[in-house]
Amino acid sequence: MDRIVINGGHSLSGKVATGGSKNAALPLLFASLLANGTHRFNNVPKLMDIDSTAILLEHLDCTMHREGDQVTVETRTCAEPFAPYDIVRKMRASILCLGPLLARYGEARVSLPGGCAIGTRPINLHVEALGQLGAEMEVEGGYVHAWANHGLTGNTIVFENATVGGTENLLLAATLARGTTILENAAKEPEIVDLADYLRAMGARIEGDGSSVIHIEGVDQLQPAEHTVIPDRIEAGTLLLAGAISGGDVTVTQCVPGHLDALLKRLSDCGFELETGPDWMRIMPRSEWGAVDISTEPYPGFPTDLQAQFMALMTLAQGTSVITERIFENRFMHVQELARMGANITPKTQVAIVRGDSGALSGAPVMATDLRASASLVLAGLAAENETVVNRIYHLDRGYERLEEKLKTLGAQIERRSESEHPVS
Ligand code: EPU
Repeated sequence: MDRIVINGGHSLSGKVATGGSKNAALPLLFASLLANGTHRFNNVPKLMDIDSTAILLEHLDCTMHREGDQVTVETRTCAEPFAPYDIVRKMRASILCLGPLLARYGEARVSLPGGCAIGTRPINLHVEALGQLGAEMEVEGGYVHAWANHGLTGNTIVFENATVGGTENLLLAATLARGTTILENAAKEPEIVDLADYLRAMGARIEGDGSSVIHIEGVDQLQPAEHTVIPDRIEAGTLLLAGAISGGDVTVTQCVPGHLDALLKRLSDCGFELETGPDWMRIMPRSEWGAVDISTEPYPGFPTDLQAQFMALMTLAQGTSVITERIFENRFMHVQELARMGANITPKTQVAIVRGDSGALSGAPVMATDLRASASLVLAGLAAENETVVNRIYHLDRGYERLEEKLKTLGAQIERRSESEHPVS
């Protein structure tokens, strides 16, 4: 199993480009289930979660082919709309095949994803909302079996919580439902807008995406189209935070700074000087920064997917920061690992109190059980004295494409090693 070894304490500098968004690419790939033919996607990141999606799509009689960052999905009529446990358990976003399969074939059997390191992450809101489009459901043997013998019918759905995946599943299903669907309290994330853009290119009639009310007028049929995936706002934010925590001067290119307003505002509150252009952002060097509080919220609030990385920055701030996690109930696994590097953090149920002025971080062997927690440990390692070894980096590889190579181009002393090259500490 690979690990990342970092020799910390070096300021980063230079330019680094953002790749395509993982969380936008996944629903887009599932959208290809809605129409036979060749779907073309550009700027698709090379990640384990994308490979897992390819395996599931192939199981559903599609063929996915990659050339560089271009991916084509050749969709054929699916013989059996069935997503097995072995594939779904590796990637929760597999549940996004439920909506399109049900809309297209009037039936689907999809494994329930089960628990997850960051929280229970139920799919009740997806299932209830599909039920409101007329689907009948049964949960048996760990699978949700859904069917709609006379097709799906539009309805008004009011989500109890704004759910990103639930909104995506319903968008995917409602495009082929009879009549009008209105999604209220819909998620507003940029990834939702990207999905709606592709569905419109396929012939769907959708309005209001990016706001909390989305109108979908069902159509009889969709056609494959071509689309460029939006830049990954979480990768861009992570790279900017790598600049911040190392006291460096880093410009992140090929990104949409407008997708990161909440992060940019907090960094500026800490005292960092920032510059932004239409598709780039730059953080200027600082040797000291202030502590600020953050509370994660649905978009456009502070993203839960940057909470762990921001916490790493706060471990070295001047003063005390209160970090509140409002999206997931168990997203503080990085706290104990950061503590092993000398951070002073008191975790409460969904709040962590980070006391910044407790001295430097020191390198240590660490590991995390979630993607963003792993990224926070890499950031801490960049600022820590001596060597940090981040173990179990397959979590990192699920969501970041060659993070260590990107950081290396900025001057980080970082490398990936296989187990044989570095004994388990
Ligand atoms: N929720 C329910 N019932 C549901 C659906 C969600 O109770 O049926 C709860 C969840 O348990 C959570 C909250 O609602 O407490 C929000 O969950 P949401 O459905 O919005 O999240 P998701 O679709 O499962 C996506 C991203 C996550 C990101 C969240 C929040 C993808 C593939 N995943 O998850 O990304 O944290 O939205 O922005 O898009 C990551 O990339 O590291 C990651 C975890």
